[in-house]
Amino acid sequence: MTLSELENKCKDCKNCALCEGRTNLVFGTGKEDADIMLIGEGPGENEDLQGEPFVGRSGKLLDKFLESVDLSRKTNVYIANMVKCRPPQNRDPKPEEQEECIKWLREQFKLIRPKIIICVGRISAQKLISPDFRVTKQHGEFIEKNGVLMMGTFHPAAILRNPNNKELAFQDWLKVRDKIEELGIRI
Ligand code: URA
Repeated sequence: MTLSELENKCKDCKNCALCEGRTNLVFGTGKEDADIMLIGEGPGENEDLQGEPFVGRSGKLLDKFLESVDLSRKTNVYIANMVKCRPPQNRDPKPEEQEECIKWLREQFKLIRPKIIICVGRISAQKLISPDFRVTKQHGEFIEKNGVLMMGTFHPAAILRNPNNKELAFQDWLKVRDKIEELGIRI
């Protein structure tokens, strides 16, 4: 199975109620065999309309962070979300919605085989790293899980709300760059 075959299958998904409100499924975007994968929370309004993750204001900020450490969705990272359909009014995805949708994400992990996974924000960090993950305390810390290095950082929407965390987030992205160098990953 290729990533685009998986995406086509996913487009028919009706495993949870979020499918009822979607304009477009937001499967993911970027390099198909990227060593670095980013996982956000779920599509917002712009993402739902365009079918691509992180295309709104917070996406622009995310792209800036990526660019500052020579990463980009165009060349060397893959970006997806915990849930692939927009939660109504941008509420947090419910545990049962995440539990359904993680099945698709696991298939994406198997095909993309990233070496580093960055959890962008609390929702994905709590689901993928640890249920009690605290972004303010544990951001920037790498832990290994099933042979993959994982790190959680601030969600760009949270930084737009509280710009004081921008510098801390930038430091996290510098750590990603250092880790890429340390592991000898060619980007
Ligand atoms: N926030 C997210 O977590 N993901 C998106 O795709 C857009 C905004």
